[in-house]
Amino acid sequence: MQKNLKYAALLAGLLCMSGVAHAEENLLEALITPFRQKEVHPVDNKQYKEECGSCHFAYPPGLLPSKSWEKLLDAKALPEHFGENAELDKDVLADIREYALANAADKSYYKRARKIALATEGVDAPIRITEVRYIKRKHHDIPEKMIKGNKDVKSLSYCDACHTQANKGIFDSDTVRIPNFPDWDD
Ligand code: HEC
Ligand code: HEC
Repeated sequence: MQKNLKYAALLAGLLCMSGVAHAEENLLEALITPFRQKEVHPVDNKQYKEECGSCHFAYPPGLLPSKSWEKLLDAKALPEHFGENAELDKDVLADIREYALANAADKSYYKRARKIALATEGVDAPIRITEVRYIKRKHHDIPEKMIKGNKDVKSLSYCDACHTQANKGIFDSDTVRIPNFPDWDD
């Protein structure tokens, strides 16, 4: 990804120098788009994975915008994290927060993250991924018996119960399998 971006920037730079670029921003956007990764950046920080993956799967930061991570990863908010104590040492919190903010939806070039960034623009920062308009819409048609009434899922927050490649940051509908409902998409 980094490499691709460098090439795109280099290309844009060359075109600018040769006087071809009129609307530089649009051009850069057009150049970068084919290089965009489809899904979200998978979690690649050991500390984040350990600390934030013990009660539920470690959500890739690209699933929420920075303003949401700022609310969630706050020293005062963590002891009352969805009814659980998720308090962290000051230094650990600083590292985790930095990692989440650097990879938040609005900082990401991954396509799925961009959709989340767009869906949360100009609205109050949600503290749940499952409250993001785009995510809500995608799960609108799934009957409750397959989620809350399903002992192997319990709530939509447990993404990896159904998204078999969530650990790789992949949420494509082709990779979904709902426990106890093998024929859900018939
Ligand atoms: C002590 C257990 C625990 C730890 C540790 C923990 N969480 Fe949670 N988290 C929860 C619970 C419980 C929920 C709510 C799940 C539900 O509603 O079914 C939750 C929900 C969330 C949600 C919202 C999911 C949704 O519904 O969209 C996010 C985001 C989140 N946690 C991020 C984090 C991050 C980041 C960390 C690491 C700093 C973390 N959590 C650590 C227990 C924990
Ligand atoms: C009960 C199982 C289940 C859980 C839990 C679940 N999903 Fe899904 N998700 C689905 C199904 C089924 C679809 C596909 C719907 C369809 O056919 O279009 C889907 C679709 C999606 C899509 C769109 C995929 C595409 O190809 O357009 C995204 C993104 C997504 N889910 C993210 C999440 C995230 C993030 C979480 C956790 C916060 C989550 N899901 C939790 C079942 C689930």
